[in-house]
Amino acid sequence: MAEFKEIIMPFKNTPGGIIQAFHAVQKKINYLPENAIIDAAEVFGIPVKEAYGVATFYSYFSIKPRGKYIIRICESAPCHVAGAAEIIASLERELGIKIGETTGDGKFTMELTECVGQCQATPVITINGKPYAGVTPQQVAEILAEYE
Ligand code: FES
Repeated sequence: MAEFKEIIMPFKNTPGGIIQAFHAVQKKINYLPENAIIDAAEVFGIPVKEAYGVATFYSYFSIKPRGKYIIRICESAPCHVAGAAEIIASLERELGIKIGETTGDGKFTMELTECVGQCQATPVITINGKPYAGVTPQQVAEILAEYE
């Protein structure tokens, strides 16, 4: 538990600090475990319910364990029409999971996202924030291999 307090503490006196603290926790382990939420409530002197509310309000926070690498597939219109569905199908085949799931080895999680501002070459996916634009279903295995 102390592990999370150490991460959270530096944001104690920052306005909106709990959000930054949650970002910092998530950056480290890719989700917000219950202990981190409890620790944050204590550090910021707010009820656990309120800290939990912050953690669940923003879509970029996850209270479910996620993989080391988060693959996000853009589903906004330009990517959608460019074949995002085929990219999803290809990722699902390669990884054996569906959107919202994590591989058994805890390595990859698949999520959908809105436009990530890379529409010049669609469809777009990101892996831990790194964009891949103009992806084809054939390229999926090659991209994943970078993370093996
Ligand atoms: S619509 Fe997909 S990156 Fe903009």
